[in-house]
Amino acid sequence: MKKVLITGSTQGIGKALATAFVNSGYEVIVHCSKDIEKAERVRAEINAYKAVVCDLSNMSEVENLYQKTGAVDCLILNASVQYKECWMDITDDTFDKQFDVNVRSTLKLIQAYYPAMKEKGFGRIVTIGSVNQYRNHPELSLYSATKCAVMKLVQVIAKQVAPFGVTVNNVAPGAIATPRNESVYNDDEQRKAVEAVIPMGRFGMPEDCVGAVLMLCSEQGSYITGTDIIIDGGMRL
Ligand SMILES: NC(=O)c1ccc[n+]([C@@H]2O[C@H](COP(=O)([O-])OP(=O)(O)OC[C@H]3O[C@@H](n4cnc5c(N)ncnc54)[C@H](OP(=O)(O)O)[C@@H]3O)[C@@H](O)[C@H]2O)c1
Repeated sequence: MKKVLITGSTQGIGKALATAFVNSGYEVIVHCSKDIEKAERVRAEINAYKAVVCDLSNMSEVENLYQKTGAVDCLILNASVQYKECWMDITDDTFDKQFDVNVRSTLKLIQAYYPAMKEKGFGRIVTIGSVNQYRNHPELSLYSATKCAVMKLVQVIAKQVAPFGVTVNNVAPGAIATPRNESVYNDDEQRKAVEAVIPMGRFGMPEDCVGAVLMLCSEQGSYITGTDIIIDGGMRL
């Protein structure tokens, strides 16, 4: 049975991915930042293999995550933090938080989990990016920059590890109805303003993101590496 760690899988897109991977026969490790009871609840609810916590803004915790999970076949780096603010208002604190969770921990976890994948001759790494890699949202400059930074890591690492059976890809969702943006989604006026810039005319659901990630992790995805799959109902267009 293949083992998969999905960061930030107690809610939203991560939970939809965890559920889909369980239903596809994977041993799934559910993860969130601090609340082990929440992680355990989700693990039990979706019948996953294991639950772990690790605050991805704390690098010593990040360095210990591999000890808690052991090697995995698939590493899905989904957790992120996002602060909505004008570029003039970005502080050292919000800069560090977004770069630590979104970029630094992503690199450290790939560094930690890759050697066992290389040894096995099989591995799948998927980072979850954002349509904001391609758009220019006035309040998401730094968040978008973290997602672009990860995309560049994906491309460079994918090229280096391709000879060893390991693929590295990014999946970039558009506006997805998750707890992160439920205040926008639940407000008629704000929801309609977002839907007006989505050619398909609706928010995506977390489940809309699972097909691409499952495919990338499967045998059918074995010749795809260093790429980005955008799941946005056409929003970037
Ligand atoms: N929703 C969208 O419209 C959208 C659009 C484009 C891209 N994305 C991307 O898709 C991914 C999932 O988004 P989402 O909307 O499903 O997120 P979400 O509802 O905000 O859930 C975030 C998950 O990440 C975990 N997390 C946050 N900070 C963490 C930390 N410091 N350490 C460890 N875990 C942490 C959370 O666990 P805790 O509860 O423990 O913090 C939670 O499980 C993110 O990378 C996001 O940038 C989302």
